[in-house]
Amino acid sequence: MKHYLQFSDFSADEYAYLFQRAAVIKAKFKGYEKYHPLADRTLAMIFEKASTRTRVSFEAGMYQLGGSVVHLTTGDSQLGRAEPIEDSARVISRMTDLVMIRTFGQDKIERFAEFSRVPVINGLTNEFHPCQIMADLFTFIEHRGSRGDAGDALSCLQGKVVAWVGDGNNMANTWLQAADLLGFTVHVSTPGGYEVDEKLAFGGKPHRAGCYKVFANPMDACRGADLVTTDVWTSMGYEAENEARRKAFADWCVDAEMMSAAQPDALFMHCLPAHRGEEVMADVIDGPQSVVWDEAENRMHVQKALMEYLLLGRLA
Ligand code: CP
Ligand code: NVA
Repeated sequence: MKHYLQFSDFSADEYAYLFQRAAVIKAKFKGYEKYHPLADRTLAMIFEKASTRTRVSFEAGMYQLGGSVVHLTTGDSQLGRAEPIEDSARVISRMTDLVMIRTFGQDKIERFAEFSRVPVINGLTNEFHPCQIMADLFTFIEHRGSRGDAGDALSCLQGKVVAWVGDGNNMANTWLQAADLLGFTVHVSTPGGYEVDEKLAFGGKPHRAGCYKVFANPMDACRGADLVTTDVWTSMGYEAENEARRKAFADWCVDAEMMSAAQPDALFMHCLPAHRGEEVMADVIDGPQSVVWDEAENRMHVQKALMEYLLLGRLA
Protein backbone atom coordinates (compact mmCIF):
# COMPACT_ATOMS: atom_id res chain seq x y z
CA MET A 1 0.00 0.00 0.00
CA LYS A 2 1.28 3.45 -0.97
CA HIS A 3 0.47 6.88 0.44
CA TYR A 4 0.95 10.20 -1.35
CA LEU A 5 2.03 12.59 1.38
CA GLN A 6 4.76 14.50 -0.43
CA PHE A 7 5.89 14.86 -4.04
CA SER A 8 9.04 12.85 -3.26
CA ASP A 9 6.94 9.79 -2.32
CA PHE A 10 6.86 8.80 -6.01
CA SER A 11 9.71 8.11 -8.46
CA ALA A 12 10.24 9.82 -11.83
CA ASP A 13 9.05 6.62 -13.47
CA GLU A 14 5.80 6.72 -11.48
CA TYR A 15 5.23 10.33 -12.56
CA ALA A 16 5.81 9.39 -16.20
CA TYR A 17 3.13 6.73 -15.79
CA LEU A 18 0.73 9.09 -13.97
CA PHE A 19 1.07 11.85 -16.58
CA GLN A 20 0.34 9.36 -19.32
CA ARG A 21 -2.69 7.97 -17.44
CA ALA A 22 -3.95 11.50 -16.72
CA ALA A 23 -3.91 12.20 -20.48
CA VAL A 24 -5.86 8.97 -21.17
CA ILE A 25 -8.39 9.67 -18.41
CA LYS A 26 -8.79 13.31 -19.53
CA ALA A 27 -9.50 12.17 -23.11
CA LYS A 28 -12.20 9.81 -21.82
CA PHE A 29 -13.79 12.69 -19.87
CA LYS A 30 -13.68 15.03 -22.88
CA GLY A 31 -15.24 12.29 -25.03
CA TYR A 32 -18.09 11.66 -22.53
CA GLU A 33 -16.87 8.06 -22.20
CA LYS A 34 -18.12 6.22 -19.11
CA TYR A 35 -15.13 4.93 -17.14
CA HIS A 36 -15.89 3.39 -13.74
CA PRO A 37 -12.80 1.52 -12.51
CA LEU A 38 -13.48 2.64 -8.91
CA ALA A 39 -17.11 1.46 -8.74
CA ASP A 40 -18.08 0.67 -5.13
CA ARG A 41 -14.99 2.45 -3.77
CA THR A 42 -15.32 5.34 -1.33
CA LEU A 43 -13.03 8.32 -0.86
CA ALA A 44 -13.11 10.12 2.50
CA MET A 45 -12.17 13.80 2.19
CA ILE A 46 -11.14 15.57 5.38
CA PHE A 47 -10.88 19.36 5.27
CA GLU A 48 -9.42 21.29 8.19
CA LYS A 49 -8.95 24.32 5.89
CA ALA A 50 -11.15 25.89 3.20
CA SER A 51 -11.11 24.68 -0.41
CA THR A 52 -12.80 25.13 -3.76
CA ARG A 53 -10.59 23.35 -6.32
CA THR A 54 -9.41 20.48 -4.14
CA ARG A 55 -12.90 19.59 -3.02
CA VAL A 56 -14.54 19.86 -6.43
CA SER A 57 -11.73 18.06 -8.27
CA PHE A 58 -11.59 15.11 -5.85
CA GLU A 59 -15.35 14.86 -5.43
CA ALA A 60 -16.27 15.17 -9.12
CA GLY A 61 -13.29 13.00 -10.07
CA MET A 62 -14.26 10.17 -7.72
CA TYR A 63 -17.89 10.17 -8.96
CA GLN A 64 -16.69 10.14 -12.56
CA LEU A 65 -14.58 7.05 -11.79
CA GLY A 66 -17.72 5.32 -10.47
CA GLY A 67 -16.99 5.75 -6.76
CA SER A 68 -18.49 7.86 -4.01
CA VAL A 69 -17.21 10.35 -1.45
CA VAL A 70 -17.66 11.29 2.20
CA HIS A 71 -16.90 14.93 3.04
CA LEU A 72 -15.76 15.75 6.58
CA THR A 73 -14.66 19.03 8.11
CA THR A 74 -13.27 19.90 11.50
CA GLY A 75 -16.52 21.68 12.33
CA ASP A 76 -18.88 18.80 11.57
CA SER A 77 -16.87 15.81 12.81
CA GLN A 78 -15.19 14.69 16.01
CA LEU A 79 -11.88 15.88 14.53
CA GLY A 80 -12.73 19.33 15.82
CA ARG A 81 -13.53 17.96 19.28
CA ALA A 82 -10.09 16.54 19.95
CA GLU A 83 -10.61 12.91 18.96
CA PRO A 84 -7.03 11.68 18.52
CA ILE A 85 -5.92 11.63 14.89
CA GLU A 86 -4.79 8.00 15.33
CA ASP A 87 -8.32 6.96 16.35
CA SER A 88 -9.88 8.92 13.49
CA ALA A 89 -7.49 7.20 11.07
CA ARG A 90 -8.32 3.73 12.41
CA VAL A 91 -12.08 4.31 12.14
CA ILE A 92 -12.31 6.20 8.83
CA SER A 93 -9.96 3.78 7.09
CA ARG A 94 -12.06 0.76 8.12
CA MET A 95 -15.06 2.13 6.24
CA THR A 96 -13.52 3.75 3.17
CA ASP A 97 -10.97 2.80 0.50
CA LEU A 98 -8.97 6.01 0.22
CA VAL A 99 -8.53 9.17 2.30
CA MET A 100 -7.64 12.71 1.19
CA ILE A 101 -6.67 15.17 3.92
CA ARG A 102 -6.17 18.94 3.91
CA THR A 103 -4.75 20.05 7.23
CA PHE A 104 -2.15 22.19 9.00
CA GLY A 105 1.06 20.38 10.03
CA GLN A 106 2.55 17.65 7.85
CA ASP A 107 3.07 15.65 11.07
CA LYS A 108 -0.70 15.28 11.33
CA ILE A 109 -1.10 13.65 7.93
CA GLU A 110 1.94 11.45 8.59
CA ARG A 111 0.33 10.25 11.83
CA PHE A 112 -2.97 9.63 10.10
CA ALA A 113 -1.19 7.58 7.40
CA GLU A 114 0.65 5.54 10.02
CA PHE A 115 -2.64 4.35 11.50
CA SER A 116 -4.61 4.11 8.24
CA ARG A 117 -5.48 0.80 6.55
CA VAL A 118 -5.94 2.57 3.23
CA PRO A 119 -3.87 4.98 1.10
CA VAL A 120 -3.76 8.60 2.25
CA ILE A 121 -3.38 11.60 -0.09
CA ASN A 122 -2.08 15.03 0.90
CA GLY A 123 -4.65 17.63 -0.23
CA LEU A 124 -2.42 20.45 1.17
CA THR A 125 -0.53 20.92 4.41
CA ASN A 126 1.42 23.92 5.68
CA GLU A 127 4.51 22.27 4.22
CA PHE A 128 3.47 20.66 0.91
CA HIS A 129 0.85 20.64 -1.88
CA PRO A 130 1.88 17.70 -4.09
CA CYS A 131 -1.40 17.26 -6.04
CA GLN A 132 -1.15 20.88 -7.20
CA ILE A 133 2.40 20.50 -8.49
CA MET A 134 1.43 17.29 -10.27
CA ALA A 135 -1.32 19.27 -12.04
CA ASP A 136 1.07 22.14 -12.82
CA LEU A 137 3.63 19.79 -14.38
CA PHE A 138 0.95 18.00 -16.39
CA THR A 139 -0.25 21.40 -17.64
CA PHE A 140 3.29 22.37 -18.64
CA ILE A 141 3.71 19.07 -20.50
CA GLU A 142 0.38 19.56 -22.30
CA HIS A 143 1.47 23.00 -23.48
CA ARG A 144 5.13 22.35 -24.16
CA GLY A 145 5.54 18.60 -24.79
CA SER A 146 5.82 17.53 -28.40
CA ARG A 147 5.37 13.77 -28.69
CA GLY A 148 2.64 13.11 -26.15
CA ASP A 149 4.10 9.80 -24.84
CA ALA A 150 5.37 8.97 -21.35
CA GLY A 151 9.03 9.54 -22.23
CA ASP A 152 8.15 12.93 -23.65
CA ALA A 153 6.42 13.93 -20.42
CA LEU A 154 9.65 13.84 -18.47
CA SER A 155 12.05 14.92 -21.21
CA CYS A 156 10.03 18.08 -21.83
CA LEU A 157 10.68 19.12 -18.21
CA GLN A 158 14.39 18.40 -18.17
CA GLY A 159 16.64 21.46 -18.14
CA LYS A 160 13.73 23.87 -17.90
CA VAL A 161 13.65 26.86 -15.53
CA VAL A 162 10.69 27.59 -13.27
CA ALA A 163 10.68 31.01 -11.58
CA TRP A 164 9.03 31.04 -8.16
CA VAL A 165 8.17 34.60 -7.08
CA GLY A 166 6.80 35.06 -3.56
CA ASP A 167 6.45 33.11 -0.35
CA GLY A 168 8.72 30.17 0.56
CA ASN A 169 5.57 28.17 1.31
CA ASN A 170 3.97 24.74 0.73
CA MET A 171 3.93 25.33 -3.05
CA ALA A 172 7.58 26.46 -3.14
CA ASN A 173 8.72 23.46 -1.06
CA THR A 174 6.90 21.11 -3.40
CA TRP A 175 8.40 22.76 -6.50
CA LEU A 176 11.85 22.11 -4.99
CA GLN A 177 11.06 18.41 -4.54
CA ALA A 178 9.77 18.18 -8.12
CA ALA A 179 12.85 19.92 -9.56
CA ASP A 180 15.15 17.59 -7.64
CA LEU A 181 13.36 14.49 -8.94
CA LEU A 182 12.49 15.50 -12.49
CA GLY A 183 15.58 17.39 -13.63
CA PHE A 184 14.62 21.04 -13.90
CA THR A 185 15.70 24.14 -11.94
CA VAL A 186 13.63 26.43 -9.74
CA HIS A 187 14.71 30.06 -9.49
CA VAL A 188 13.38 31.14 -6.11
CA SER A 189 12.90 34.75 -5.08
CA THR A 190 11.26 35.51 -1.75
CA PRO A 191 11.40 38.54 0.55
CA GLY A 192 13.86 38.27 3.44
CA GLY A 193 12.39 36.23 6.29
CA TYR A 194 10.19 34.17 3.95
CA GLU A 195 12.89 32.00 2.34
CA VAL A 196 12.44 28.34 1.44
CA ASP A 197 13.76 26.00 4.08
CA GLU A 198 15.96 23.42 2.38
CA LYS A 199 15.88 21.06 5.38
CA LEU A 200 12.11 21.08 5.35
CA ALA A 201 11.79 20.76 1.57
CA PHE A 202 14.21 17.83 1.29
CA GLY A 203 13.65 16.33 4.73
CA GLY A 204 17.38 16.65 5.49
CA LYS A 205 18.20 14.23 2.63
CA PRO A 206 20.71 14.99 -0.13
CA HIS A 207 19.34 16.68 -3.24
CA ARG A 208 20.55 17.26 -6.79
CA ALA A 209 23.05 20.14 -6.89
CA GLY A 210 21.60 23.11 -8.74
CA CYS A 211 17.98 21.97 -8.60
CA TYR A 212 17.19 25.39 -7.14
CA LYS A 213 18.87 28.79 -7.06
CA VAL A 214 18.03 31.75 -4.84
CA PHE A 215 17.68 35.32 -6.19
CA ALA A 216 17.22 38.44 -4.07
CA ASN A 217 15.53 40.26 -6.96
CA PRO A 218 12.42 38.65 -8.49
CA MET A 219 13.32 40.11 -11.92
CA ASP A 220 16.56 38.10 -11.85
CA ALA A 221 14.64 34.94 -10.93
CA CYS A 222 12.36 35.43 -13.96
CA ARG A 223 15.21 36.00 -16.43
CA GLY A 224 15.08 33.24 -19.05
CA ALA A 225 12.39 31.24 -17.22
CA ASP A 226 10.15 28.80 -19.11
CA LEU A 227 7.45 29.14 -16.47
CA VAL A 228 6.75 31.94 -14.00
CA THR A 229 4.61 31.07 -11.02
CA THR A 230 3.50 32.59 -7.74
CA ASP A 231 0.97 32.16 -4.93
CA VAL A 232 -0.87 34.17 -2.29
CA TRP A 233 1.23 36.31 0.04
CA THR A 234 -0.58 34.88 3.05
CA SER A 235 -1.37 31.17 3.06
CA MET A 236 -4.17 29.59 5.08
CA GLY A 237 -3.17 29.33 8.71
CA TYR A 238 -0.93 32.45 8.57
CA GLU A 239 -3.68 35.09 8.59
CA ALA A 240 -2.32 36.76 11.75
CA GLU A 241 0.76 37.77 9.70
CA ASN A 242 -1.30 39.38 6.94
CA GLU A 243 -0.35 43.01 7.55
CA ALA A 244 3.38 42.33 7.92
CA ARG A 245 3.29 40.17 4.80
CA ARG A 246 1.54 42.82 2.69
CA LYS A 247 4.43 45.16 3.41
CA ALA A 248 7.19 42.60 2.95
CA PHE A 249 5.82 41.18 -0.32
CA ALA A 250 4.99 44.49 -2.09
CA ASP A 251 7.80 44.02 -4.68
CA TRP A 252 6.98 40.34 -5.24
CA CYS A 253 4.12 40.93 -7.65
CA VAL A 254 4.36 39.20 -11.03
CA ASP A 255 3.82 41.94 -13.62
CA ALA A 256 4.33 42.38 -17.37
CA GLU A 257 7.94 43.46 -16.83
CA MET A 258 8.79 40.22 -15.01
CA MET A 259 7.06 38.21 -17.74
CA SER A 260 9.08 40.05 -20.39
CA ALA A 261 12.31 39.02 -18.62
CA ALA A 262 11.26 35.37 -19.01
CA GLN A 263 11.36 33.40 -22.29
CA PRO A 264 9.06 34.90 -24.94
CA ASP A 265 6.89 31.76 -24.78
CA ALA A 266 7.01 31.46 -20.95
CA LEU A 267 3.83 30.24 -19.30
CA PHE A 268 2.29 31.78 -16.18
CA MET A 269 0.73 29.59 -13.48
CA HIS A 270 -0.95 30.21 -10.13
CA CYS A 271 -2.53 27.46 -8.02
CA LEU A 272 -5.42 29.85 -7.18
CA PRO A 273 -7.19 31.51 -5.43
CA ALA A 274 -5.45 34.65 -6.76
CA HIS A 275 -5.42 38.26 -5.62
CA ARG A 276 -5.07 40.56 -8.63
CA GLY A 277 -2.91 43.58 -7.78
CA GLU A 278 -1.12 41.70 -4.97
CA GLU A 279 0.97 38.67 -6.00
CA VAL A 280 0.04 39.05 -9.70
CA MET A 281 -1.23 41.83 -11.94
CA ALA A 282 -4.51 41.30 -13.78
CA ASP A 283 -2.89 41.69 -17.22
CA VAL A 284 -0.61 38.71 -16.43
CA ILE A 285 -3.09 36.27 -14.89
CA ASP A 286 -5.76 37.22 -17.45
CA GLY A 287 -3.25 37.57 -20.29
CA PRO A 288 -2.22 35.26 -23.15
CA GLN A 289 0.67 33.53 -21.32
CA SER A 290 -1.52 32.47 -18.39
CA VAL A 291 -2.71 28.85 -18.27
CA VAL A 292 -4.34 29.04 -14.84
CA TRP A 293 -7.72 27.65 -15.94
CA ASP A 294 -6.14 24.61 -17.62
CA GLU A 295 -4.04 24.23 -14.47
CA ALA A 296 -7.14 24.25 -12.24
CA GLU A 297 -9.02 21.78 -14.45
CA ASN A 298 -6.02 19.47 -14.59
CA ARG A 299 -6.21 18.99 -10.82
CA MET A 300 -9.13 16.69 -11.51
CA HIS A 301 -7.48 14.70 -14.30
CA VAL A 302 -4.19 14.06 -12.48
CA GLN A 303 -5.98 13.18 -9.23
CA LYS A 304 -8.19 10.67 -11.06
CA ALA A 305 -4.97 9.06 -12.34
CA LEU A 306 -3.57 9.19 -8.80
CA MET A 307 -6.65 7.58 -7.19
CA GLU A 308 -6.74 4.88 -9.86
CA TYR A 309 -3.04 4.17 -9.29
CA LEU A 310 -3.28 4.03 -5.49
CA LEU A 311 -6.26 1.66 -5.61
CA LEU A 312 -5.59 -0.47 -8.70
CA GLY A 313 -1.87 -0.12 -9.36
CA ARG A 314 -0.50 0.20 -12.89
CA LEU A 315 -2.93 -0.62 -15.67
CA ALA A 316 -1.34 -2.02 -18.83
N1 CP B 1 -5.27 25.34 -5.50
C1 CP B 1 -6.05 24.84 -4.52
O1 CP B 1 -5.68 23.89 -3.82
O2 CP B 1 -7.25 25.47 -4.39
P1 CP B 1 -8.32 25.28 -3.23
O3 CP B 1 -7.76 25.89 -1.99
O4 CP B 1 -9.54 26.01 -3.74
O5 CP B 1 -8.58 23.81 -3.03
N1 NVA C 1 -0.23 28.43 -0.28
C1 NVA C 1 -1.67 28.48 -0.32
C2 NVA C 1 -2.20 27.56 -1.35
C3 NVA C 1 -3.70 27.55 -1.48
C4 NVA C 1 -4.19 26.55 -2.48
C5 NVA C 1 -2.21 28.12 1.06
O1 NVA C 1 -1.66 27.21 1.69
O2 NVA C 1 -3.17 28.75 1.50
